[in-house]
Amino acid sequence: MSYQVLARKWRPGDFSEVAGQEHVLKTLINALDKQRLHHAYLFTGTRGTGKTTLARILAKCFNCEQGVSARPCNTCGVCTEISEGRHLDLFEIDAASRTKVEDTRDLLENVQFAPARARFKVYLIDEVHMLSTHSFNALLKTLEEPPAHVKFLFATTDPQKLPVTILSRCLQFHLRNLGPKTIVKYLGPVLEQEQIDCESDALWQIADAAAGSMRDALTLLDQAISYCQGKIKTESVVEMLGIPPRRHVFALLQAMAAGDLPGVLRVSRELTGHISDYAQTLDSLLSSLHRLALAQAHADAVDNHQGDRREILELAGKFSAEDLQLYYQIGARGREELALSGDTRATFEMLLLRMLVFSPKPVAQSGPIPVDAATDGEGTDSEAESEPTATAAGAQSESPPPGNREPAPEMSEAPPPEPDFSSESAPPRDEPSPADPAPPPDQASKPATAPVADSLVADFEQDPVVQTLVRNFSGTVLRDSVTTIQSRGSR
Ligand SMILES: Nc1ncnc2c1ncn2[C@@H]1O[C@H](COP(=O)(O)OP(=O)(O)OP(=O)(O)O)[C@@H](O)[C@H]1O
Ligand SMILES: [Mg+2]
Ligand SMILES: [Zn+2]
Repeated sequence: MSYQVLARKWRPGDFSEVAGQEHVLKTLINALDKQRLHHAYLFTGTRGTGKTTLARILAKCFNCEQGVSARPCNTCGVCTEISEGRHLDLFEIDAASRTKVEDTRDLLENVQFAPARARFKVYLIDEVHMLSTHSFNALLKTLEEPPAHVKFLFATTDPQKLPVTILSRCLQFHLRNLGPKTIVKYLGPVLEQEQIDCESDALWQIADAAAGSMRDALTLLDQAISYCQGKIKTESVVEMLGIPPRRHVFALLQAMAAGDLPGVLRVSRELTGHISDYAQTLDSLLSSLHRLALAQAHADAVDNHQGDRREILELAGKFSAEDLQLYYQIGARGREELALSGDTRATFEMLLLRMLVFSPKPVAQSGPIPVDAATDGEGTDSEAESEPTATAAGAQSESPPPGNREPAPEMSEAPPPEPDFSSESAPPRDEPSPADPAPPPDQASKPATAPVADSLVADFEQDPVVQTLVRNFSGTVLRDSVTTIQSRGSR
């Protein structure tokens, strides 16, 4: 017998087998139990969340030989034929390939004839948003008052493209993306019945990667079964998905917590050999930053669905709440930069550096990045090597805590002179101009550092990036960042 992919083999046959979507199930089941049948239903939601599945179950509910009910028998001729997609009175139409008004007219011509065998003629129109405007107009009248033996079931991923005239004639059900927890719960029994061994962590990785779609989860599971040949292991799934291994993400966060610039760059470059895509790596980092912020706000809000709760709680104590917010914001905005970038590795590194440079915490710049790590992208798998460097960690431990910093040292040099275009004969700015009043004696030996520092601060505050930070964070954080950058610049 030919192999059937898991997503098709495990299509739910009745409402009790559907994962999630409780809000939709409840309404449908209540309506069917009370025999309050509408003539047009619209299912919306992203790919693989159950639109076609629910529409087919509903078709069985309408037409089951045992009578209209929320629990079709799944054994009668009609139920079996609908499950196999070959029932004469269920018309599955792909609107994407039948967009023309002539197609819709053909369909409507047949609407008036009684069903061949079943109680109702059911028209299931998938991707209905693809119909042309003329097709929608042709449909309106019939949709408003169809013959008693006709039911319309529409499905679309893009309801915004439907005319309001269509929307107002249908009962609408918006299917939600499925959370990783729901997906894992659903896949567990599937694996059991398929007699496939799978590490729990591997399943969570698949559920995360499915991004809300059960079809994607089942397809990834199919892929993992072929990839692993035997037991599905986390390591293999991570490799297959091309996602950054968790230990690397944690090593990155450790280095960030220590303000260890070389360490951050080193781990970032080690990652290169393990990932297929920096956008995904940034997403993993953002997800961890989010979990860290949750851990700080309320430890119970962090679940163990990724098997990393203990590490998250430990790490959360090493970041300030402001830093986590700042890093998250820079990272979230950086997704656009990554999408536009021709060199994603460089962009990713710049984002990491920006996070640390803008942080009010002192940054350890303890030494050059080891040449091998800086130049070759092939990292090692060793966890020990992913730890921040000893020097960097040491530098951090010697640094004063953020709230207890030394005041910024006064600048020893004036900033580079601004070119003066007002007069060609104007003397260079570093030589005293005869017109300049002589500085008072106590300032003569020391350049005017404080006003210079103030003007630098003013310049910083004009910068659009800094202004964004000011809007989102307290001025104190900004001023702290500026002072730190200044003091570093003056060293
Ligand atoms: N809520 C769900 N519960 C259980 N399985 C589901 C669910 N949603 C989807 N699936 C699985 O995914 C497969 C595809 O689902 P379905 O065809 O209903 O998706 P869809 O929402 O119509 O997607 P598309 O927009 O791509 O057409 C099903 O055969 C089933 O195995
Ligand atoms: Mg579908
Ligand atoms: Zn039946």
